[in-house]
Amino acid sequence: MIKRTPSINTLGMMMTPQAAAKPSTETIHPLDRLSSLLGDDLAKVNDLIIARMDSHVALIPQLAAWLIAAGGKRIRPLLTLGCTRLYGYTGDRPFGLSAAVEFIHTATLLHDDVVDESIERRGKPSANMVFGNQASVLVGDFLFCRSFQLMVDDGSIDVLRILSDASATIAEGEVLQLSAANDLSTGMEKYTAIIEAKTAALFAAACEVGPIIAGADATAQKAMRDFGYYLGMAFQIADDVLDYSANREKLGKTVGDDFREGKLTAPVLMALERADETEREFWARTMERREQTDADLATAQALLVKHDALNRGLALAREYEAKARTALHTAPKNAVRDALDDVLSFAVGRDH
Ligand code: IPE
Ligand code: IPE
Ligand code: MG
Ligand code: MG
Repeated sequence: MIKRTPSINTLGMMMTPQAAAKPSTETIHPLDRLSSLLGDDLAKVNDLIIARMDSHVALIPQLAAWLIAAGGKRIRPLLTLGCTRLYGYTGDRPFGLSAAVEFIHTATLLHDDVVDESIERRGKPSANMVFGNQASVLVGDFLFCRSFQLMVDDGSIDVLRILSDASATIAEGEVLQLSAANDLSTGMEKYTAIIEAKTAALFAAACEVGPIIAGADATAQKAMRDFGYYLGMAFQIADDVLDYSANREKLGKTVGDDFREGKLTAPVLMALERADETEREFWARTMERREQTDADLATAQALLVKHDALNRGLALAREYEAKARTALHTAPKNAVRDALDDVLSFAVGRDH
């Protein structure tokens, strides 16, 4: 099993290159290869994130810092940086856009935790618990707007279009998910549409802007968009499996949120396909009518195991992972591409 190495400092920022100097006996975290390779770039992005989350309204940096300083894997900005460097571009343009991508993500997390009534994020009480729903929603709005200012600073209308389309799509995905909650007739098709919108769209956009910044051709742009899309799908399905199977401390979020909220995700849909009448009534009571007792989560987890739904969920994620790899491997082979390969393996194999 991969050991999490202490590559995140107290401010939650990925540290630059020490990972490369680690003794060979130590296991390297799969994201360390990319964050080492792009350590200086990521440090600049993190500086920009800190600078641009500031405001004369004190509650904004306070609340933003609560979430941002708690860490986070920084996968999306790493992807933007990686997909730019992959095509040989060496200039400064990806910094502001990577910060914009992380701000979009951070804003969606603030809103998502309010909607999901989550209590924990990145190993700490979530912002909605500490600062309340109203402040979380409003600071989320601020971070969304900041991301647009950063995109305008960059000046590319193509990039602005891609990232603003993704932002609108994420919001649609969250609303679609809300309207599908507690509905046992939600099928794989609707679930796929939800996760495409709420998660894969931003991964796709984060990757697609790389070749655009680098001035690579339309084929490269399409390849990176596909890479990001399939990676995002794999990442979210793995997240939905982890919501039932993870260790809370490692995940940094409570387990069972999706069950409590009545979100029909891949593992439950797969267990439902094979459910007998009693089991179907269990899912209807707990997820549709939301009549739950403390023992129900354990029963749900046992049913997922009984029907092999966690493994079948991960197998579906692996299918997306394979498609992402095919798209990635159309790019020139270099150290960055190898490190992006690691990110892809991490998306499904992760425990946090
Ligand atoms: C969480 O994303 C939301 C999902 C799409 C599942 P991450 O797992 O990338 O969250 P952080 O940024 O590392 O906390
Ligand atoms: C994540 O969905 C999607 C967005 C934040 C847009 P989840 O609700 O599964 O994410 P977590 O589990 O709260 O991180
Ligand atoms: Mg959530
Ligand atoms: Mg989740």
